[in-house]
Amino acid sequence: MTTALITGSTAGIGAAFARRLASRGHNLVLVARDTARLREQATELHDRHGIEAEVLTADLSAEEGIAAVEERLGDRTHPVDLLVNNAGFGNKGRYLEVSMADELTMLKVHVEAVLRLSSAAAGSMRSRGRGGIVNVASVAAFVPRGTYGASKAWVVQFTQGAARDLAGSGVRMMALCPGFVRTEFHQRAGMGTDNIPGWMWLDADKLVAAALDDLARGRTVSVPDPRYKALMGVVKLAPRGLLGGLSSRTGRKYGPQ
Ligand SMILES: NC(=O)c1ccc[n+]([C@@H]2O[C@H](COP(=O)([O-])OP(=O)(O)OC[C@H]3O[C@@H](n4cnc5c(N)ncnc54)[C@H](OP(=O)(O)O)[C@@H]3O)[C@@H](O)[C@H]2O)c1
Repeated sequence: MTTALITGSTAGIGAAFARRLASRGHNLVLVARDTARLREQATELHDRHGIEAEVLTADLSAEEGIAAVEERLGDRTHPVDLLVNNAGFGNKGRYLEVSMADELTMLKVHVEAVLRLSSAAAGSMRSRGRGGIVNVASVAAFVPRGTYGASKAWVVQFTQGAARDLAGSGVRMMALCPGFVRTEFHQRAGMGTDNIPGWMWLDADKLVAAALDDLARGRTVSVPDPRYKALMGVVKLAPRGLLGGLSSRTGRKYGPQ
């Protein structure tokens, strides 16, 4: 039996990874800040799928939280075979409307935690000659979109480069780039979603199934849905200035009222 560690496992995309991996018989290490919710999730997945689910409460915006997960990933007596760096959040507002503290917290969770946890896992996986790491980015990585888009662009660049460096080691790395997914993300950030057309919304369970297929195929970047694949094809051809303007106008809808 293999073990997967998922950060941000209690809601949205992370919870969909937990359901999918548990249904395939993987043991899980569930990471988030809310211990009661983690315990409830662990019990439910254990009862439904007969797998072992460990709870690891950690705040990935804090040094101790990142260090605790690094330590678990480095435990060679209970190795982790698949790491899903998924924990993340949005900040409401455009540049200079978001506090510096919130901007820096985003960099800690989306960049520092992803770098440190990927590295802790990859080192141990490489010595065993196998393993997988999925870093959840976003299609926002491909458009100018404040610190959120920049942090997700870092995730894509870092993951592609690291995957190349690890080629032949038995360790796979993949950046997952979802479009809009129905989760707690927008509500937590206080962002309205009324202006987002229905066709743009993805289902978290379908997204995760497609992402795991892409990982098995050896992709290093996954944009799992045909609608977003087409959209990203257009985005790659569009001038950056035009994309920046569109992104900034859309961002205004998410700003303070
Ligand atoms: N939803 C979308 O439209 C969308 C699109 C593209 C990419 N994404 C990305 O997908 C990932 C998951 O987002 P989601 O939509 O599933 O969000 P979500 O439903 O709000 O879930 C976020 C998860 O992350 C955990 N989390 C948040 N901050 C954390 C921290 N500091 N330390 C540890 N855990 C933390 C939360 O649990 P606790 O609060 O208990 O810690 C929760 O389990 C994020 O990286 C996001 O940027 C989302």
